[in-house]
Amino acid sequence: MKIIERLELGEYATFKPNKELPRHRWFYFKEGFSRDLVHYLLKKYDVDSGDWVLDPFMGVGTTPLTCREYGVNTVGIEISPLFKLIAEAKIMDYDIEDIKKYFNYLLSYRKRIDLNGIHGLLKKAFPKPSLIDILRIREAIENIYEGRYRNLFYLALLSAANKSTYMIKDGSKLRFSKRNIPPFIDVFRRTVNMIIRDIIEMELKNVYYYLYQGDARQMTMVEDESIDLVITSPPYLNKIEYTTVYEIEYLILYGDTRVNPLRSYIGLTFSRRDFIELPKIIDKDLPPAAHAYFNDMYKVLNEIYRVLRGGGKAILVVGQGIFPDRIIPSDEILAKLGREIGFRRPEIWVINRRIAVRNRTIKIGVANESIVILSK
Ligand SMILES: C[S@@+](CC[C@H](N)C(=O)[O-])C[C@H]1O[C@@H](n2cnc3c(N)ncnc32)[C@H](O)[C@@H]1O
Repeated sequence: MKIIERLELGEYATFKPNKELPRHRWFYFKEGFSRDLVHYLLKKYDVDSGDWVLDPFMGVGTTPLTCREYGVNTVGIEISPLFKLIAEAKIMDYDIEDIKKYFNYLLSYRKRIDLNGIHGLLKKAFPKPSLIDILRIREAIENIYEGRYRNLFYLALLSAANKSTYMIKDGSKLRFSKRNIPPFIDVFRRTVNMIIRDIIEMELKNVYYYLYQGDARQMTMVEDESIDLVITSPPYLNKIEYTTVYEIEYLILYGDTRVNPLRSYIGLTFSRRDFIELPKIIDKDLPPAAHAYFNDMYKVLNEIYRVLRGGGKAILVVGQGIFPDRIIPSDEILAKLGREIGFRRPEIWVINRRIAVRNRTIKIGVANESIVILSK
């Protein structure tokens, strides 16, 4: 297996470069990668208009949005309704006059908001006047009957709430710190104005784009051999931030912190009954969480193989798994699983090397972040 060092790509595997980019900046998603990485891969693999690019772990939609900028057709799949809503809001077309009309309606909406019965986390996260404004605007948004505008304003609401909160997303936990923060309503106005500017400034091409809420392990909505390139980043082994860190967003949008009652987050909870027979290359002594993860990812890789055309490629941005006693080389294991399924010439580009520690001081080893390339 070819393993090469491409550390110059490391920065592109983060969401940081998107913070300055129109539309991409509408919602900060720490677990995302950058427009520049997707752009680089589309060019490198000569993707043409008429081709189809799939991201089965679309997150907040960096891959599909970049495909619309670039001019290629795209399919995105995401299990979380929250992230799917954000991805969809970022990629759609809007009429500026309609946005302004709804915006004026939201700002003029008057209703007494009762904080009794509101979840304690929300009361901790916002000063009272901001929380009242958030809940009032949220209620007004529900009255917008055109789904795409409703979602756009939900996105603006969440984005503004994230910038006017005592809450700090700290690794896999939420922290609260009473700091000087701007009033929500001011940030909301600025956010909607930025959204309007971005829509005017950024040209999106006329392509087909289909975004689904669904499960990468069972992509029934995608036909066999219909995809030319897969660009994706699955959740990293043993890094489970998606449920707790986005609790506030879930509370604002859905009124509870329920994420999804099914076992739908790769590697999060598991029962041995779900396990399928993995190829012998998988070490039997892996921790159960790792076993569950590769079990899920084996299903995903099989699905990716099914939907790719012959000659198509799958590009996966993955992190190695950090456990208290060892680093598990997920990149190499996924490449080997891919080979078992029928992918040819797996290649690994190492893009980041990070020292992993436990109890803040004891070194476990070096955990790589890599790009795994599989060819059908
Ligand atoms: C590393 S993030 C991808 C971020 C994306 N590249 C971006 O820039 O926004 C992985 C995503 O996979 C989603 N996910 C987890 N399990 C899934 C599953 N079984 N099917 C589809 N998506 C899933 C998570 O909710 C998360 O949004």
